[in-house]
Amino acid sequence: MSQISPQLQATLDAAREGSQIESSQIQMVGTGGQQQHAWASYPNASVALKGLNESPLDSSVGPRGALLVALEDPGSDSDLARLRNQLWPEFHAVAIFDGKPEGIRRRTFGSRELLKGKPGSCQVLVLRRLQEVMSPETTTAKFDQNAKGWDGVPGSPGYPHFRWMRRFVALYGRPEKASRILDFGSGAGWVGIEAAKQFPGSSLFLFDPSPEMVRIAEGNAKVEGVDLCEGRIGFGDAPPFPRSGESRYDWVISSGVISFASDSEAWLDGLCKTVAPGGTLVIGDIQLESKGVQKRRRTHPLLPVRELNAKSAAWVRQGLEARGFEFVRGSAYQLTYPIPQIMHINETKLDGLLSRPLLWINQIGATLSRLTGGACKSVFDSWVMQLRAPAE
Ligand SMILES: C[S@@+](CC[C@H](N)C(=O)[O-])C[C@H]1O[C@@H](n2cnc3c(N)ncnc32)[C@H](O)[C@@H]1O
Repeated sequence: MSQISPQLQATLDAAREGSQIESSQIQMVGTGGQQQHAWASYPNASVALKGLNESPLDSSVGPRGALLVALEDPGSDSDLARLRNQLWPEFHAVAIFDGKPEGIRRRTFGSRELLKGKPGSCQVLVLRRLQEVMSPETTTAKFDQNAKGWDGVPGSPGYPHFRWMRRFVALYGRPEKASRILDFGSGAGWVGIEAAKQFPGSSLFLFDPSPEMVRIAEGNAKVEGVDLCEGRIGFGDAPPFPRSGESRYDWVISSGVISFASDSEAWLDGLCKTVAPGGTLVIGDIQLESKGVQKRRRTHPLLPVRELNAKSAAWVRQGLEARGFEFVRGSAYQLTYPIPQIMHINETKLDGLLSRPLLWINQIGATLSRLTGGACKSVFDSWVMQLRAPAE
């Protein structure tokens, strides 16, 4: 494992530098040193699958460290996805450095760039400790940076679908009346805003770990005429609402958030504490059983961490029922592969020509799912459910 080709060494060096790791901070897996980061090399992905299984990774990589897996022969994306799946949940793949005759190509989720050097044909997969990837600091920084993107772009081809999804979740479990509404992990606030607009004069409370998201959400609420809106910063496992002396909320909605929780049980505990006795809880997230999600897990080595961390609707339902909540209804929305791919083409190449028909298809799909109580899980990328909080 110690002798590696000059090409692989060049790619490994590029991966180390690109990951901001000094050469003094990294050691070879199994050498028993005290460094934060580690690397291992193998002839190919199949040998790596076996070798990594038998390697002392826990003692080689520090609690916030990176693991660099260097391959003399590059693997296919499916090979790398298998490696990534094997190392989950201790590690999460964040970058691939492909040594190619034309140079070293750096891939992350959503970006590609050609770096200097001409190292031939080899590959380095960069993985980070999950506790680092999902740490509060990383989460806050990531969403602060991407906050504008999560707000949607009015007038863009994807905007009608973006707003429809938020409205769909917001109206899914609309109670007969509500005066205190909480958006739990609000992002730009659109779910909570749609809910609050159902009950003029109601108060909207929202929170998010990202101060920038909270700032945008409060601004959106004002523009949409939701005047009674208060935002706070915080995480779901220790929600900033309600503070001591404040009442709980009669309608709590959390859309697309539980998959970001590093400790899903603690997050559910936090969620349940916010709902008033007999109040309505609506929660939705990624559908694990979807054809698209399953395909991506098999074939994409670089995925957002939430796609691997997602919990099934059945798991969440069981967790909430164990906490005394009563299931009211559940179903699915957002048609899966190939609809998102067609939507992408529609947005990037067709200037929105198909936006309306695609939205109608999704609306019809969501209605059918609701009518059938969530049948055909594999056809939808998201689930949603409504529950009732226990009476005091
Ligand atoms: C996919 S966005 C969804 C935002 C919004 N609910 C929506 O449907 O548009 C996920 C949001 O969850 C927030 N988040 C991440 N980890 C969280 C946690 N542990 N507790 C609460 N919110 C969290 C993120 O900052 C981000 O704004």
